[in-house]
Amino acid sequence: MKPVKVGLLGLGTVGTGVVRLVEGHQEDLQNGSGSPIVIEKILVQNKSKERDINVSLDKLTEDPWEIVKDPAIDVIVEVMGGVQQTKEYLLEALSLGKQVVTANKDLMALHGPELLEMAKRHGCDVMYEASVAGGIPIIRTLIDGFSSDRITKIMGIVNGTTNYIMTKMSQEAAAYDDVLKEAQQLGYAESDPTSDVEGLDAARKMTILATLGFRTNVDLSDVSTEGISKVTKEDILYAKRLGYEVKLLGIAERQDDLISISVQPTMVKNTHPIASVNGVFNAVYVYGEAVGETMFYGPGAGELPTATSVVADLVAVVKNLNLGVSGKNSTVAYKEKKLKTDDQ
Ligand code: NDP
Ligand code: HSE
Repeated sequence: MKPVKVGLLGLGTVGTGVVRLVEGHQEDLQNGSGSPIVIEKILVQNKSKERDINVSLDKLTEDPWEIVKDPAIDVIVEVMGGVQQTKEYLLEALSLGKQVVTANKDLMALHGPELLEMAKRHGCDVMYEASVAGGIPIIRTLIDGFSSDRITKIMGIVNGTTNYIMTKMSQEAAAYDDVLKEAQQLGYAESDPTSDVEGLDAARKMTILATLGFRTNVDLSDVSTEGISKVTKEDILYAKRLGYEVKLLGIAERQDDLISISVQPTMVKNTHPIASVNGVFNAVYVYGEAVGETMFYGPGAGELPTATSVVADLVAVVKNLNLGVSGKNSTVAYKEKKLKTDDQ
């Protein structure tokens, strides 16, 4: 079988994990997708930077168009982050008939419908499992696993950095600034960690989850957002004495045609399963009218957990390519019906 050629945009925390998995699990990927998968070229900002992984210098480029416009590249895997430029690259790639996998929640929360529309027009897939809750396959679960049900509530811890910070503040009485630095060193935080600590990253993820779960188009501006920067160690330790943990919770609820979505620091009774989700772990609770309560748990950030989701998407798009069903079976946004949010 002819190898499928991948252009990787980004070789940071997640990109490094993607290269490791594609090289280390090649046989499994081939069994799952039906083709050998080869990373042909990799976009970086600085070719001469020292890296944790050995990659042939010939594969690296600082010119995005060398990858996006290369007719030999079948799939673009975007793990570079950013919104405007990245959107431009991915729209161009889709218009040229390339499949797209992305871990970029900022982009999907703001421009998901536009990218999915372009993909549909050109018979391509856009998959974005890693954009929410790192290693937990929650996007597939919402689309396929709950397709027979009506979801009325999605609640969870969807940011690993803030959960890591608050866990260390609660369990070790650690100082906020020290733990934030640790989370950055571990590769959990965004390049600008303000979006983690001010709740914006979680709000973007809740936008994606609510869009898929409630089968409507949710705007980021529909999410009422507050981060953890005003939560002190004293608040956390005081709540703990009262039998609560403080967690940054995303809550999306639907009542008939009205939805409300928020992200805010919340006191969670220590007997609730969400209270024992610690460190970089995430958990997403989903309530469906027929199924009742369900909860999904796993690492929410980090090199290999996130790469697991990215590479699973890669296997899925290559499989679709081989079956000739690209763009027919992909992760869709629901545009037809806009439910009202509680501020309308
Ligand atoms: P990093 O900052 O570690 O890596 C970004 C990579 O992209 C680097 O290799 C960088 O090049 C390259 N890059 C960035 N901007 C440009 C540009 N303008 N032109 C060329 N190359 C560029 O980010 P992460 O790996 O942590 O995250 C990547 C994406 O995945 C983001 O969208 C993030 O939100 C998402 N994500 C991250 C998770 C995590 O745990 N880290 C989890 C889930 C999603 P160079 O190496 O030369 O600097
Ligand atoms: N900065 C994000 C987090 C990465 O901490 O959850 C995973 O999306």
